[in-house]
Amino acid sequence: MSTFHDKVIYQAYPKSFKDTNGNGIGDLNGVKEKLPYLAELGVDMLWLNPFYNSPQNDNGYDVADYTSIDPMFGTWEDLDALVSEANQHGIDLMLDMVLNHTSTDHEWFQKALAGDKKYQDFYILRELQEDGSLPTNWESKFGGKAWSKFGDTNKYYLHLYDVTQADLNWRNPEVRKELYKVVNFWLEKGVKGFRFDVINVIGKDEELKDADDGVGKSHYTDTPIVHDYIQEMNKETFGQHEDIVTVGEMSSTTVENGVKYSRPDRDELSMIFSFHHLKVDYKDGEKWTTIPFDFQELKNILNEWQEGMAEEGGWNALFWNNHDQPRANNRFGDVENYPVETSTMLAQTAHLLRGTPFVYQGEEIGMTNPEFDDLDEYVDIETHNAYKKMKEDGIAHDEAMEIIKQKSRDNSRTPMQWNDSENAGFSEGTPWLNVADNYKDINTENETVSKKIFTYYKELIRLRKEMPIIQEGSYKALELDHPSIFAYVREHEGETLLVLNHFYAEEDAITIPDDLLDKDAAYLIGNRAERTLEKEFKMGPYETAAFLLK
Ligand code: GLC
Repeated sequence: MSTFHDKVIYQAYPKSFKDTNGNGIGDLNGVKEKLPYLAELGVDMLWLNPFYNSPQNDNGYDVADYTSIDPMFGTWEDLDALVSEANQHGIDLMLDMVLNHTSTDHEWFQKALAGDKKYQDFYILRELQEDGSLPTNWESKFGGKAWSKFGDTNKYYLHLYDVTQADLNWRNPEVRKELYKVVNFWLEKGVKGFRFDVINVIGKDEELKDADDGVGKSHYTDTPIVHDYIQEMNKETFGQHEDIVTVGEMSSTTVENGVKYSRPDRDELSMIFSFHHLKVDYKDGEKWTTIPFDFQELKNILNEWQEGMAEEGGWNALFWNNHDQPRANNRFGDVENYPVETSTMLAQTAHLLRGTPFVYQGEEIGMTNPEFDDLDEYVDIETHNAYKKMKEDGIAHDEAMEIIKQKSRDNSRTPMQWNDSENAGFSEGTPWLNVADNYKDINTENETVSKKIFTYYKELIRLRKEMPIIQEGSYKALELDHPSIFAYVREHEGETLLVLNHFYAEEDAITIPDDLLDKDAAYLIGNRAERTLEKEFKMGPYETAAFLLK
């Protein structure tokens, strides 16, 4: 049996977690200071977003040196102290490996620019097509074209993300060797987990061609060679160690590939993040729009991934939030009228599914989108690119701002709300990104008193550790087309776990099948006082309830 199915992983965005030196930027010492808080929550592993040297054009996902610590985050001593104190609390560290691209400030890119042939072959350089158009018509995921001029040569370099994030040439064995050295370096530092950034786009087609759709994803996403590369990386690095937990961030992937990436006997990764369920409030697949989320679609997608991965032995990461997503409680709930119910219902929906739950900083206290009115309050590069594009497309300023308020990645990157003092107790300096102004109500100290959301997460995490049915049980949806309730059943060694999650404010009911009613039902956990299971089970606003049936 796998060793990590009882674990829960917490994601801290170091820049916004806790600042200890007053420069307005969170740091490693800040993470260390808050370890008791994480231990209290009960998490087993702590994923930290990149803290390596970086010009920070994409908040550290533009790495200039993979084996360094940016001084703004701290020192090697700080990291060693963090690892060892975390271990004392039973928490292991998971680091973010951004191996698809480097910053254009990286030494390799700089050497390549200076004419060094060896390093030119580290990147993907091509000449213009005969008709003078770019090497391919692919688009950058951050807007604009995916190619930019390579110095004063006649070549162009590929960047699927920002122009300062140059894609590495994984077809070059030298590149792979260098990247494996990086992973091994961090393993030696005592790191026990890795989150691999956009790892399913590393294997570009050998011959790069224009895409029929003018976007290009199919020419570099989930190509068969990606699996070979991940297997090789596993063998050369973390696969040589016991109990390393890995998760791959998979952009636009499929269940079929998800299984391949995560089925234990394939020796690739422990699990994957997929994102289809977080696109159900995109109009025609376009992020920078605002429509209410499609509940049926959300359930269909979650169901497809739960069933598909279980059938073939794959493993899902379970999550609603991360540093790239607006806050889920704003998207799928009602933070005005039912903040506690919304947060606990969403938490329970995810935590009791088959897979490994990830908690993103602040969701355990119900943090929300900040709703900044001023474009200048947003820092994120993708947000600013999107604003420009919306303006070009004729969208008025006010409408564009409404969209940004709902969709910007900065929604989740605002400083962690520790208490009701200035800057929410995050920093004594000026925070790099403004604090959401509801911090006087929503903060960890208030939660300690009210025991609403944090305590609920704690309980969900504790239950997973104790109950094999949560770790290993099968999954089956119940009445998948119910208009307001997402219900599912887990089964394991003669026990049944029934989980009922109501996604709306209007009261509704679900009919419980007789074979479930025939069993003895014990109320396991829910966001209402004691409930009894009955044929027509009524659910209040954003109610969640789980019963253990024997
Ligand atoms: C991933 C990261 C995101 C980053 C992008 C490019 O999606 O989560 O923050 O911008 O990769 O590295």
